[in-house]
Amino acid sequence: MKIGIIGAGNIGATLARKLAASGHEVKLANSKGPDPIRDLAHGFGAVAVSKEHAVKDVDVVVLSIPFARYPDLAGHFSDVPAEVVVIDTSNYYPFRDGAITEVDDGKPESVWVSEQIGRPVIKVWNAVLAATLSDRGKSAGTPGRIAIPVAGDDANATAKAFQLVDATEFDALDAGTLAESWRQQPGTPGYCTELTLNELKAALAAADRRRAPENREALIKEFAAAGARLTHDEIVARNRAVTA
Ligand SMILES: NC(=O)c1ccc[n+]([C@@H]2O[C@H](COP(=O)([O-])OP(=O)(O)OC[C@H]3O[C@@H](n4cnc5c(N)ncnc54)[C@H](OP(=O)(O)O)[C@@H]3O)[C@@H](O)[C@H]2O)c1
Repeated sequence: MKIGIIGAGNIGATLARKLAASGHEVKLANSKGPDPIRDLAHGFGAVAVSKEHAVKDVDVVVLSIPFARYPDLAGHFSDVPAEVVVIDTSNYYPFRDGAITEVDDGKPESVWVSEQIGRPVIKVWNAVLAATLSDRGKSAGTPGRIAIPVAGDDANATAKAFQLVDATEFDALDAGTLAESWRQQPGTPGYCTELTLNELKAALAAADRRRAPENREALIKEFAAAGARLTHDEIVARNRAVTA
């Protein structure tokens, strides 16, 4: 597929590397223009472009920018054909993004994103830590392969997202509609807990909408207090323990 990725940070650059390695044609954009990311993109067989160029002549656009920056992309998709799939990887953290009342009041994060950009989105790769995405993929059929939830309202778009999740070496799980995507947001048991397909299914079913923001805040406090002392496995273990 031809893929444009906007956001060249922890998640966007890792997706660019993995998707290019699996044979997809990848363009990568950031906020500052292509120059600062030209070598990075070239290093894994992608092309650095402007964000305007990233949405042109592609099958899929992946948005991987800080949550509060999505309003910057308003109007960005006005000339993009309806069949182009738009994937959102974002998560809302009020300490980092500032308070957004509608989301605090319960609007699912990717519904808010979709409203900001004026375009339906599929929620994918939000519930996986950058290090998990980078280092813990396994080929299809390998026991213990980690699963990633995919939420959205369009079956064709979801099918494309499934193919791309597999290309990044994870199993994909249909997590329902975008309205239900709160089940994979921060503070839920399926969020950054490295679960297999069946475990993730159970975790999404067990998600508690009221508790999730409380869990998210408790974990952020704990991680901030621990600083760099926690290993990746300790972070995953704390995510599991607090959200169980
Ligand atoms: N890090 C994780 O473990 C993780 C896991 C799952 C999901 N997520 C979510 O995925 C998203 C990206 O996270 P990240 O950790 O990859 O972020 P990051 O490392 O901070 O990178 C953010 C990228 O977005 C670009 N950007 C910011 N504003 C932009 C704009 N208006 N237009 C175009 N590009 C813009 C930045 O470009 P410049 O540098 O040029 O400004 C940068 O390349 C966030 O919503 C995050 O919550 C993160």
